[in-house]
Formats: sequence, structure tokens, C-alpha cells
Amino acid sequence: MKFSSYLLDLEQLQTELIVIPYRNDVPNLAFEAMDKIVLGALSERMKLENFRGQKDRTIIWEGLHNNLPYRVIIVGIDSGQDPAAVRWGIGRAVRFATAHSLKSITCVLDAQDFERLERETLLFAEGTVLSNYQFDKYKTKAKKTPNTFHLTFTAVGNTDDGFPTLKKIKQQAAAGRIRAEAVNLARDLVNEPANVLSPAELANRASALSEKHGLECTVLSEKEIKIAGMGLVTAVSSGSELPPRFIHMVYKPKTKSEISVALVGKGITFDSGGLCIKPGKSMAEMKTDMAGAAAVMGIMSVLKQLDISAEVHGIIPAVENAVGAKAARPGDVYRSQSGKTVEVVNTDAEGRLILADAITYACRLNPNIIIDIATLTGSCEIALGSECAGLFAARDEDAVAFENAAKSSGEAIWRLPLLANLESSIKSDVADLKNVGDRFGGAITAALFLKQFTENRAWIHLDIAGPARQDKSTPTCQKGASGFGVLAGLTYLQNLNRQQS
Ligand code: BES
Ligand code: ZN
Ligand code: ZN
Repeated sequence: MKFSSYLLDLEQLQTELIVIPYRNDVPNLAFEAMDKIVLGALSERMKLENFRGQKDRTIIWEGLHNNLPYRVIIVGIDSGQDPAAVRWGIGRAVRFATAHSLKSITCVLDAQDFERLERETLLFAEGTVLSNYQFDKYKTKAKKTPNTFHLTFTAVGNTDDGFPTLKKIKQQAAAGRIRAEAVNLARDLVNEPANVLSPAELANRASALSEKHGLECTVLSEKEIKIAGMGLVTAVSSGSELPPRFIHMVYKPKTKSEISVALVGKGITFDSGGLCIKPGKSMAEMKTDMAGAAAVMGIMSVLKQLDISAEVHGIIPAVENAVGAKAARPGDVYRSQSGKTVEVVNTDAEGRLILADAITYACRLNPNIIIDIATLTGSCEIALGSECAGLFAARDEDAVAFENAAKSSGEAIWRLPLLANLESSIKSDVADLKNVGDRFGGAITAALFLKQFTENRAWIHLDIAGPARQDKSTPTCQKGASGFGVLAGLTYLQNLNRQQS
């Protein structure tokens, strides 16, 4: 995919497809200019089709201009406030271009409001790269290899300053592309089947991406995990033939930072449930159970390119939850790295076990905040549906910062409470804690379990069991892995840059 940005004369555009985002509230200079060129054909079509910029609608006009074929697609983006709707707009145009084998797309944006121009450029770049994603490496026939587009950005109105406008457009287009590539990296890892993506393979991929993107990376072997005292990681892994790995990546900014963030991702490469085995239907998609780890890896892979100013640690316990003869049993008691003992009541509540040790490991790095991302509970999906993640936070200000980041990147999250009255339900008769509480409020008791290992530090927990996977294709995401959490996580870190400067 090639990206370019120019301030072009619309009469001279040499492109196979012109895309214009259309908001339902304000007049649109790009639309007006293009409408003039085609002698009012666009506004006529708009009236005819009762198009008012609705986010699920497009208008396509095809004809001749200066004896050359001219194709214009107007994509509705509602009020433009919902980033996902803007991405869907360009996603529809990309799908149209793919279907018609068009290779060059020019986005004509409106420059009368500068902030809006920047946002739309970013989101159009993200949407293009996201909608062009395919996972068909295992198909032997009829591969739909991603289209190699040449995407050009240009703007109409208020561009007299020339270079500064162009520079902003270029910056936002580049940032959008990098951010979306991070999402696609996470999608690739989650879509990979569990027979390929073992804990060791996940660690290999983490090492490879660290090498490529200038991160430090340490991987602990099974023996080293035992020596480090991570009894909960070891317990979950004991039913599998595949040895666990513990991955620690580090991003260090160019200038030493006062702020460090520890990202912890649940890396269960397959969740059979263990001896408390899952019924077939619930097990079918459990290769997705490392989506938290994948989001962390996606984020880590672009920190350097985005010039993030905080130090960031990516911590991933990578384990398969299987049912071998040595598997942990309900009633077993294990000692965590923190020293707290845990009674395993249900072997299917394994995510919180490996995360507990990973959070202890994170605490020892003394970060300013720990953020864990995990496909942790079916309860969370029942509470919030399949498109929204649950957010838990020890401090209100961190919740607000993450909520803002998620909102401006178009990922749905909703804060749930860490209800202290439910804490008694994870006290065990025989050990310090048990890994499952009462039936009701399962997402909350899982979060409360994790909280016991945070040493009262600043901490955010994101339960992505619902949105990690999509059951239906949308204009920007094929059915399967969504890469959820990458965009919000990156925006959160980019916002820290602004606070520091
Ligand atoms: N990996 C699952 C959670 C999950 C469910 C992820 C659906 C994605 C979609 C987790 O390990 C699990 O099995 N949790 C149990 C906990 C229960 C045994 C307390 C659950 O949510 O049912
Ligand atoms: Zn489970
Ligand atoms: Zn799980």
C-alpha cells in the first residue's frame, strides 16, 4: 500500500476513485467543489436517493469528465463524532474499489475546520488499512490477497498556507497507517490456529518483533518460570504437553522517561477449560484466548514509530490450558509468585491465575501504572454484549484517561465497579484465595481476584472477552479477530506524550 498527500487541483485528479466523507450536519467544501466539476450530478443523485450522510449509506457516481472515466463515492459518516463510523466510510469505499479492481484512491477532505481535517485523515488512513486486512494464509485456492492501493489524500478550502496543511495531513496519514498495522498484527496472532501458535511460538514472534522494532525482549523458559516461583503459571500449564513461556518486552524512549507503564496481556494459546472442560461449542473459539497478549504485542510493535515518550513494558504469560494427566485439579492449592496461596476451584478460571503471577512480576518493575488486557470472563460479555469491553480501575483518574482514549479511538468500553462486598466470595477455606467467587457478578469477582496482586498500585483491567472476536464482517473488520484494545491502548500512550510535553 502506498500513501501520498498533495494539495491538488481537483480538475487535474488522476485517480480511479475519488472518496469524499460526508457529514450530516455541516456543509462540505470537498463535496461542493466536486459537485461543480460534475455539473451538479452529485447533488442531484443525493436528492434522488435521499442521502443525508447516514453512516451506512454511500452515493456512487460514475461518468466521463474531460473524456476520462470519473468515479466518485460519497460516504456517509453521520456527525463524524464516532471514529468507527468514519473508518466504516472509507472501509466501504475500499470494498468498492476491491470489487472493481481499482488501484488508486484519492480522498478529498474538507479543510475548513483544521481539527476535523486531521481527525478524518487519521481515521481514513486507519480505515483503509483495517478494511484491507485478510487472513487467508491457509487457503490453498482463491486467495484474496490484500489489495495494493495507492491512497492519496488531498484537501479543499483553507489550504492557502500550503506546506503546513500538507505536513499535518502527511503526519496523520502516517500515524493512522502505523496504528492500523498494529491492529492487524494483533489480528494475525489471534487468527493463527492454536496448533501453530503454541506458547513457544508466541514467544518466538515476540522476540522477532522486538528485534525488528528496537525492543528488548527476555523470554523465561519452563524451568526459569518454576525457579522464579510463578506457581500459578506452572499450575495452569501442567496439563499441557506444550511448555509455557513468560515474555517480557521493553520499549525505552529516546530520552529517559519519568513515566513507565506495564502492559500485561493474557496469553492462553488455547483454553480447553482444563479438567473442568468446556462444552464443545464454548471451546470452539478458544484460540482467541490470547487476544490480550496479541493486543500488547501489537501496541509494543509501533511505540518507536509513534515516538511514545513513556517507558513501556509488555508482559505476557503464555500458556496452554489443557487436560493432560498432570493437569491441575479442582481443590488443588498453589503458591503464587507473590507468596499468596490460591485454591483452584475451577480450572477454567485460568486466566486470572496466570495474570496474578504476571501482575506480581509487573509490580517488581515499579511502574507508574499496570494495565492488563484479557479475554477473562464470559460474564463480561453477558453484561456488556459482544462489542464492548469491561473496564475496571483502582483510581478514578486512570479510568477517565482510558475512557477518553477509547472514545477518541472508537473502541467501546464501559466501566464496571470493583465492589468490595463481593471480595469475601473469593476467600478460600483452605488457602488465602480461591479462583472463583459466586455465580453472579463473575466479571467483577475475576477483577477483584486480580486486584489482590496489584499491591494497591495504579491499575486498569480491561476484560475483552466480548469484543476480541467478531462474528460478522464489517467494512473494517473481517469475521474473526478484531485486534480490540490496540487503538485505545495506543491513544492512551500517545495522550501521555501530550501531558509530558
Ligand atoms: N477464556 C474464558 C473467558 C471467555 C469466554 C473468553 C468467552 C472469550 C469468550 C475464561 O478463561 C473462562 O473460561 N472463564 C470462565 C470463568 C468461570 C469458570 C468462573 C467463564 O467466564 O465462564
Ligand atoms: Zn477458561
Ligand atoms: Zn480463558
